[in-house]
Amino acid sequence: MERRRELFGGRSAAIFALAGSAIGLGNIWRFPYMVGQTGGAAFIIIYLVCCLLLSLPIFLAEAIIGHRTQAGTFGAMEQLAPGTKWKWLGLLTVVSPLIILSYYSVVGGWSIGYLWQSLTSGFHASELGSVSSAFGNFIASPGRALFCHTLFLSGCAAIVSAGVKSGIERFNKFSMPLLFVLIVVIMVYSLMLPGSSAGVEYLVKPDFSKITPSGVAAAMGQSFFSLSLGVGTILTYSSYIHSKENILVMGLGTVGFDLLFALIAGFAIMPAVFAAGIEPGAGPGLIFETLPYIFAHMGASAPWLSAVVAVLFFVTIVFAAFTSAISMFEVGVAYLVEQRGLTRHRATLLIFLGTWILGALCSLSFGPLSDVKLFGLSIFSFCDMLTSNFLMTFGGLLFVLFVGWKMDRKVVRDEFTCGGTARFNGVVFDAFWFLLRYIAPPAIVIIFLTNFFV
Ligand code: PHE
Repeated sequence: MERRRELFGGRSAAIFALAGSAIGLGNIWRFPYMVGQTGGAAFIIIYLVCCLLLSLPIFLAEAIIGHRTQAGTFGAMEQLAPGTKWKWLGLLTVVSPLIILSYYSVVGGWSIGYLWQSLTSGFHASELGSVSSAFGNFIASPGRALFCHTLFLSGCAAIVSAGVKSGIERFNKFSMPLLFVLIVVIMVYSLMLPGSSAGVEYLVKPDFSKITPSGVAAAMGQSFFSLSLGVGTILTYSSYIHSKENILVMGLGTVGFDLLFALIAGFAIMPAVFAAGIEPGAGPGLIFETLPYIFAHMGASAPWLSAVVAVLFFVTIVFAAFTSAISMFEVGVAYLVEQRGLTRHRATLLIFLGTWILGALCSLSFGPLSDVKLFGLSIFSFCDMLTSNFLMTFGGLLFVLFVGWKMDRKVVRDEFTCGGTARFNGVVFDAFWFLLRYIAPPAIVIIFLTNFFV
């Protein structure tokens, strides 16, 4: 049933797309607050090690499957292990990114709402408590929050339905450079605020006494989330990369950009937090509560400047969220087009409807549906917990086991080294193979168990 596939236009288009998937709310929203809650610089060092030793091999495993088969998650499993239970991994990784997309779109919608506010009335609250309650009211109001969720998801649908090249590739090629410029501008502003040096110190001076086993598991989990691992997005995007491109170059490029962006975002946010005299461990409310408060207060000498920075900041979040959300959207669309024979437009509509409904339930769980609990959690938190703590790690484990233990070493080596033509085909491949077979699986199991029991 497979049709002729569109491919990304070249190496830079492919890296922009992969980095677009990786760089998202995970870098601007999750990473800084986790750094704030879990030991500053010490967390960052552990995070770097996790990215290189654990997440890069998992990334490469997923990419090898997609690149080799040039098919979406389900088709890839059917090609490499026809008629086996591995097809369930193909299906699981169609469903899990769509669950993430549903609640991700709700947060993307909040960012659109805050962008609108930064453009119109700005932020004026006199104390942190009132900014927090404004945020609470916003996410609980069904009308506004649902409207923003709809807007965000419609934007994703419009990009994805335009196709791999004219939609996804074009959007990423424009957005990725823009995102880097914006985050650097915000960082420079933040570093110039009086009192910001305490934030810099916090990010560069490690305090290893704050690191606990669950902190290490959190760093590993964060690197999974940030690199979009275990849910088929990397696999699907890699299937659109020309067969002559080298997967290791793609992996290093994506991990490098993702890390760089997370670090710059840390240096954009923490110095401002310290300059405003706020505790760094604010948690998930950091960008929607703490930062608007900072924007309202830091502008004493030049209010127009902080108003402009507020707009730039929310533009950055909205674009970063879009580039990630379209990668999750595409996984479902690729499945419906390739396996079910739907046209791209129909497939887009179907995915839009499904994720809109689940997203609406997640959104309403902050308001009218706040009493509905699944395993003691709200619908939003349940979807987040199910995917970040369970489905992503489980999918990642199965991908790693598949490539490391089920696929033929020769095939993997051939794919890794571009048919033996790559310069680094000896010891680098052996290191990858070792990490993939012996280090990644137990490490993922440890994260998994820590998430459940600690
Ligand atoms: N990596 C994205 C982020 O950092 C989130 C994501 C998860 C994207 C899973 C795709 C798949 O925000």
